[in-house]
Amino acid sequence: MGLERESTIDIEFNKVLNIDIQKIRSEFPILHQEVNGKPLVYFDNAATSQKPIQVIEAIDDYYGRYNANIHRGVHHLSQVATDAYEKARRTTQRFLNAEHEHEVLFTAGTTDSINLVAQTWGRQNIQKGDEIILTQLEHHSNIVPWQMLAEEKGAIIKVVDINEAGELDMEGYKSLLCNATKLVAFNHISNALGTLNPVKEMTALAHDAGAIVLIDGAQSVPHMKVDVQELDADFYTFSAHKICGPTGVGVLYGKEALLEKMPPWRGGGEMIKTVSFSGTTYNELPFKFEAGTPHIEGGIVMGVAMDYLNQIGLENIAAYEAELLEYGVQKMAELEYIDFIGTAKEKASVISFNMKGAHPFDVGTILDKLGVAVRTGHHCCQPLMERLGIPGTVRASFAFYNTKEEIDALVSGLERAHKMFS
Ligand code: ALA
Repeated sequence: MGLERESTIDIEFNKVLNIDIQKIRSEFPILHQEVNGKPLVYFDNAATSQKPIQVIEAIDDYYGRYNANIHRGVHHLSQVATDAYEKARRTTQRFLNAEHEHEVLFTAGTTDSINLVAQTWGRQNIQKGDEIILTQLEHHSNIVPWQMLAEEKGAIIKVVDINEAGELDMEGYKSLLCNATKLVAFNHISNALGTLNPVKEMTALAHDAGAIVLIDGAQSVPHMKVDVQELDADFYTFSAHKICGPTGVGVLYGKEALLEKMPPWRGGGEMIKTVSFSGTTYNELPFKFEAGTPHIEGGIVMGVAMDYLNQIGLENIAAYEAELLEYGVQKMAELEYIDFIGTAKEKASVISFNMKGAHPFDVGTILDKLGVAVRTGHHCCQPLMERLGIPGTVRASFAFYNTKEEIDALVSGLERAHKMFS
């Protein structure tokens, strides 16, 4: 099984980076299995991360010990669950370095967070003829909510182009910014190519033009320390399941001044102060945006996942993953039939590529037969694939629990696949 192969890991390499890979891997039960008779190599971390035992046990602990509805019961279990849920909000506040705890809204994930901003701030502030700037690197979830808004309001969407390496054209971006620009929305790290965007500079430029900025952080928070105050982000979003937490829960950070002025979105319990048939008044932040019984276990366990990452250290994670990326690029560059898609100078541990003469889906299927899990296709970025003139890519995305030896398994899988296709 997977563990046996780790006995040959270069321990010095890991010590230097302050990552105890043996210990970390022992905390992820799912990694220690065979798929199609081969040790699992999980390289689909950009789609979702695996969960350590601390997270799995926290879910069990919630349902086994203190499951109750929150914010509404005087009884003991409700208070324990409420305390745990609000503790997770404070953990998230620290995780992002938000100024206020009530600037952290719990949502169903990144997609939900972006839709919330589009449907509240957007519907309140975007008028006919206003401009929204997006980039060619966006995931559908940071395109479609803005298209829906633009269609409703008669607003115009403009798109920042990329260069051959998959980096944003900053001169083009500057030329798009103008008085009509009301919102700029972009990802911190591209899910499809791994490009790390200059978000601080982009935010400052947008602010100079008088625009509000939303940063999609779904692919950045798993890999690096994020400080929303340092970035001066107006809105920042991410999902728990990409940082070792559960699916169906995530975060919208918003600056207090913006959130205060925004109308509520979903109506129901929890988001109200008083309700009568002559009128309703709304709750204070953050509850104004959290109608109904939330994903209680999800919120609590998202906090546990953040604690877990903090314990390893996001700086250590970033350094270790940078080593994995460098190793992977170096090994795969030796395969002359591999084309890298996205070679930005600044990038996260994502290698998107194609094999000459082979469809990405076929390459992914062969890798799966060899136990190597990658994502293939357009990665929810059809406009990007269209811009690149390709149907899709094969994407290997590394996490801090992956190893160089697993990259070797990917490379030998690619060699096998190439032989089959040639
Ligand atoms: N957005 C996720 C990915 O890139 C699902 O795979």
